[in-house]
Amino acid sequence: MDKFVIEGGVPLCGEVEVNGAKNAVLPIMAATLLAHDVFTIKNIPLVRDVYTMKKVLEVLGCRIEIDESGHVMIIDTRERKGWEAPYELVKQMRASYYVLGSLMGKDKRARVSLPGGCAIGARPVDLHIKGLRSLGARVSVVHGYIEAEAEKLKGTKIILLGRKGPSVGATINTMMAASLAEGETVIEGAALEPEVACVAEFINKMGGKVENAGTPVIKIKGVKELHGCEFEVIPDRIEGGTYLVCGAMTGEILIKNVIPEHMRAVIEKVKEAGAEVEEGEDWLRVKKRELRGTDVDVAPYPGFPTDMQAQFMAAMTIAEGRSVITETIFENRFLHVPELMRMGADIKIEGPSAVVSGVPSLSGAPVMASDLRASAALVLAGLVAEGRTEVHRVYHIDRGYERIVEKLQSLGARIWRERE
Ligand code: EPZ
Repeated sequence: MDKFVIEGGVPLCGEVEVNGAKNAVLPIMAATLLAHDVFTIKNIPLVRDVYTMKKVLEVLGCRIEIDESGHVMIIDTRERKGWEAPYELVKQMRASYYVLGSLMGKDKRARVSLPGGCAIGARPVDLHIKGLRSLGARVSVVHGYIEAEAEKLKGTKIILLGRKGPSVGATINTMMAASLAEGETVIEGAALEPEVACVAEFINKMGGKVENAGTPVIKIKGVKELHGCEFEVIPDRIEGGTYLVCGAMTGEILIKNVIPEHMRAVIEKVKEAGAEVEEGEDWLRVKKRELRGTDVDVAPYPGFPTDMQAQFMAAMTIAEGRSVITETIFENRFLHVPELMRMGADIKIEGPSAVVSGVPSLSGAPVMASDLRASAALVLAGLVAEGRTEVHRVYHIDRGYERIVEKLQSLGARIWRERE
């Protein structure tokens, strides 16, 4: 297992290039199962979750090549035979469940391990099952697996809104299955995240007919067959947001290869917190200024993303005054709080809110990463802390941030990776 060692307090300055969106490329890789053909996917991030999804597809008989220097992946699904995503892989990465929608679409048959809970919450899959059942599939949970089958899938109207609002995963899984169903499907209460629209665009490039993805009502006209294509993944708005907050805490960073529109809520909050942000068509420049306490309520897109909550909290620990940060999407997504407190942060958890009282400085300490975004928050805290911080269990961060150590080093940070 690796750890990061950070010597904090060094101002950062320079430019950083954001990679493709992890949460778009994972469902896109799964969506290639909707055809037996060859695909070229560009702008893929070289992160561990992508390699796990590669294994899921390989277990199903696909051939995959990655050109790492070009960030391009070739997926050949022509000899795909299987229908199962095994527990060994799904337990490593929940997003493996995306093969449920694509296998059901293509073959009307799938067996996918139930992912179970994870560090940030219970994460049920009832809406995924609802989507498939509405299309006419028989779905059961047997021996820890979701087993689904149908003679045919039939388009219909499906309301996918859950107790916590829309679901990104259930919207995408249903959209994939419906793209090869008979007739028209209307998904109401669909998730609005840019990753949903990106997957829809990919399906359309395969010859599908998905309309209005990115709005609450998506229409899918089922087609008989889909085919291979070439596609470029959108930039990762959460990686971009992480460097934005990083710049607001440490110096001045030019962030390249982003779509600022996808990051609007985060840009607004970073500005409200006092940082200067300039933007162009595909870049952002952030400059550190005196940070002030700023409240945040996490919400589905276009609201402030849950995936940026931990990083923003790291910034608020050193802001002037008080911030109330409320997380309503995942019930257990404050695992970074006790670790930030080990570094001298003043935070109290009150139900779904964390009340952060800014302190003049953090002090470096050994801390433990518990999930992907919590780890990023600890790295940001380490960069501004006095002295040495060790972030343990960084395999979490490798799931979603490509070459974060090298990117931060290029900005002047004193950070390196060590074997435990
Ligand atoms: C996606 O997870 C992302 N993962 C998450 O990113 C992100 O935090 C989340 O969306 C919210 O934006 C991927 O895209 C691979 P949801 P997903 O279904 O699709 C509840 C990261 O750090 N719900 O939109 O699993 C659920 O419990 C990760 O990159 C149900 O009740 O999230 C949650 O409260 C972590 N029933 C809410 O909906 C269901 O069947 C939103 O979850 C499904 C979800």
